[in-house]
Formats: sequence, structure tokens, C-alpha cells
Amino acid sequence: MQVQQNYPLKKYNTFGINAIAKYFSTFSSFDELKNLIEEKNVSSKMILGGGSNILFTKNYEGLVLKNEIPGIDIIKEENDFVFIKAGAGVSWHSFVIFCVANNFGGVENLSLIPGNIGASPMQNIGAYGVEVKDVFYELEALHLQEKTIRKFYVEDCEFGYRESVFKKKYKGLFVILNVTYRLKKNPVFNISYGAIEKELVKMKIGKLSIKAISDAVINIRTSKLPNPSIIGNAGSFFKNPVVEQEEIVKLELQEIEIPFYKTEDGYYKIPGGWLIEQCGWKGYRKGDAGCYDKQALVLVNYGNATGADIYNLSEEIKISVKEKFDIELEREVNIL
Ligand code: FAD
Ligand code: EPU
Repeated sequence: MQVQQNYPLKKYNTFGINAIAKYFSTFSSFDELKNLIEEKNVSSKMILGGGSNILFTKNYEGLVLKNEIPGIDIIKEENDFVFIKAGAGVSWHSFVIFCVANNFGGVENLSLIPGNIGASPMQNIGAYGVEVKDVFYELEALHLQEKTIRKFYVEDCEFGYRESVFKKKYKGLFVILNVTYRLKKNPVFNISYGAIEKELVKMKIGKLSIKAISDAVINIRTSKLPNPSIIGNAGSFFKNPVVEQEEIVKLELQEIEIPFYKTEDGYYKIPGGWLIEQCGWKGYRKGDAGCYDKQALVLVNYGNATGADIYNLSEEIKISVKEKFDIELEREVNIL
């Protein structure tokens, strides 16, 4: 653990943006982190996980602290549940692999999501009908100013669609050190998301299992999402807009056949990828910044785009969606 100066971040963000951190260090334990946050001579500090939900639009003038806290441990068992504590630096997908290999159910639909355990509750990661909040039990986080460790249970986290308390009132205040998830010993299969069922049929699965679901999800994801080690990206750049019924009626009155899904709390979620595609952006490329040709919600860096190039493209897309549909797209990716 040594603080480095003028450190290149290209390898540390999945967009592959060539930004420089004025100071950079990794940490693998709470004690190492505690020493690092005592650093008084830096203007600001940020915690970095796998860098898969970040867009650097400029160099970072403070200290980047890359979380590498390891460990996956079963800490408690009940008749139906197992409680697994994972260090914030563990990769999310390796945690999923551990659960699937042990037939612990609940995260198989979340296979192959990039990034680390520490960031998984930050934006309540989700895919294929499941969100992290469905399996979350508790987490421990360090308060950066008070230097105390606080436990958060599900009721403290204010989870929502790609939201949590850590992105709102506690933004930048806590470093998540570990997360404990509660998995089912007798998995309940969730294949309600249409594409999974279709993929399972295609795979000719004899007996349904969480391994089969995980494999199906991996197949679907690899067929439409760009692999960041080949094409830089951070997954969906925008959230799917959530609107009230009157918005849908307004669009239908204009004879726009808008696709939507009703949410549990009575709102309507519109696929942002559809809105962006309708505005003609799908497959668009300007220099090395582009809108992915298989999934319009994903913005990509074909090589040497700057963070500003990607950000400017996202702004153009936002404006055109607003003009055509009067709908405001909200960025999902953290802009720095
Ligand atoms: P980072 O990008 O490193 O950080 C994200 C934010 O969290 C930053 O603000 C950072 O400061 C903060 N942070 C990170 N770790 C900590 C910590 N320990 N304590 C406090 N703050 C912290 N997301 C989904 O929800 N569903 C998907 O299906 C999905 N698919 C994706 C597909 C691809 C190809 C890619 C590239 C991304 C995808 N994402 C998806 C987005 C991304 O994988 C998740 O948001 C992931 O949780 C980010 O984790 P990370 O460790 O890379 O976070
Ligand atoms: N669509 C289009 N054109 C496109 C892309 C999508 O018309 O170019 C429409 C289609 O109607 C499609 C629908 O959008 O049926 C939904 O598309 P998809 O199943 O690919 O999912 P998504 O809504 O675009 C969301 C998440 C993903 C998650 C998938 C699967 C958000 C912002 N994104 O994408 O999460 O993996 O569902 O559950 O909610 C991420 O957060 O980074 C991410 C990749």
C-alpha cells in the first residue's frame, strides 16, 4: 500500500478513459483504509471499485482509493437461509459463481454484472427481474468524517430502482467495507423475465437449476452487451424513465405506440433503449464515442474517446429524447 502520484486510470474504468489520478492507492483492509483517509494534503478522496459505473470527464485532482478488501465467508445458517459476508473488493460475479456452485439461490439472475461487492448496494444493482435488495441482509461502512463503523440493514438503505441512501443523502460519506447477503438453501427459480425462458428452451435444459438460469443469463448478456475488455462501456448509460400514467396517455394520444411496463408502485417504466433508438441514435458513432448497435441504452468508447466526448454524446441524446417525447432521461453512470 503506497500512495502513487499522477497515476493512469485507463485500466481502472471499464469505459477505458485515459484520466489521471493525482494520487492513487489500493487498500485491502480496514486498517490500511484508516491510514489512507488520514492523508490531509489532498483536496478530495474517492472510493473506486471495479470502475464499471463511472465516467471520468477530467483528471481526478484528489486521492483515488481502490477498494480491494477480500473474503467470502458463510457466517450463519438457518433452516432455509445461509448468510454470506463478502469483502467490498470481491468481484460481484465471483460471488455469484460461489453461490451458484453451492446451490445457494437468489443471485443467479444477477450473473455477469461487472464491478465489486462494495458498489452492489450503492445503486441496488438489478437485472432479469431481481435486485440486490431482494437478497441484502446488512452491510458495514466507515463514516469518513466520524471515522466510526456503522451497520446498515435493509430498512436503512432506502433502496429503489438503481438507487440507495448512498447515492442520495449519504453520497460520498461512507466507505462500504463488506456486505452480507441472505441466500436461499432451497432455491426458488425466477424465470418470469421472458428472455430467460426463451433462452432456457434454446439451451434444451432437462432439469431447471440455478446453474441453468445463471448460464441462460450469461448467454443473453453476452449476446447484447459489449464486453468492456473489447469495447469500453459502463452498461446502461441512462436509467429507464419511470413516468405517471398521464404521460403514457399523452403519448398514446399522439399515436405513439410506446412500450412500457407497470411497476409495483403504480408507475410506468419505459425502455430508454427504445426511446433512444426511435431518435435514430442506435449504432451512431462520432469519432470513438458511440451508441452501441445492439443496445441503444449503452454508450461506448471504441478506443480513444475522452470522457467529455461520451458525456457530450449523452447530452445530445438527452436533448433529442426530450424534444421528440418530452421525456427526461436520467444518467445512471456516475459522472466525475
Ligand atoms: P465503481 O464504478 O467503481 O463505482 C461506482 C460508484 O460507487 C462510485 O461513485 C464509487 O465512488 C462508489 N463506490 C464503489 N465502491 C464503493 C465502496 N466500497 N464504498 C463506497 N462507495 C463506493 N448494473 C446493473 O445494475 N445491472 C446490470 O445489468 C449491469 N450491467 C452492466 C453491464 C456492463 C457491460 C457494465 C460495464 C456495467 C453494468 N452495470 C450494471 C453497471 C455496474 O456493473 C454496476 O453499477 C456495478 O455495481 C458497479 O460496481 P463497481 O465496483 O465497478 O463500481
Ligand atoms: N429496446 C429497444 N432498443 C434497444 C434496446 C432496448 O427498443 O436498442 C427495448 C426493447 O423493447 C426491449 C426493452 O427495451 O425489450 C428492454 O431491453 P433490455 O431487456 O435489453 O433491458 P434494458 O431495459 O435496456 C435493463 C437494465 C440493465 C439490465 C437489463 C436486464 C436499466 C437502466 N438497465 O436494461 O442493466 O441488465 O434491463 O434486466 O435498468 C445496467 O444497469 O447497466 C444494465 C445493463
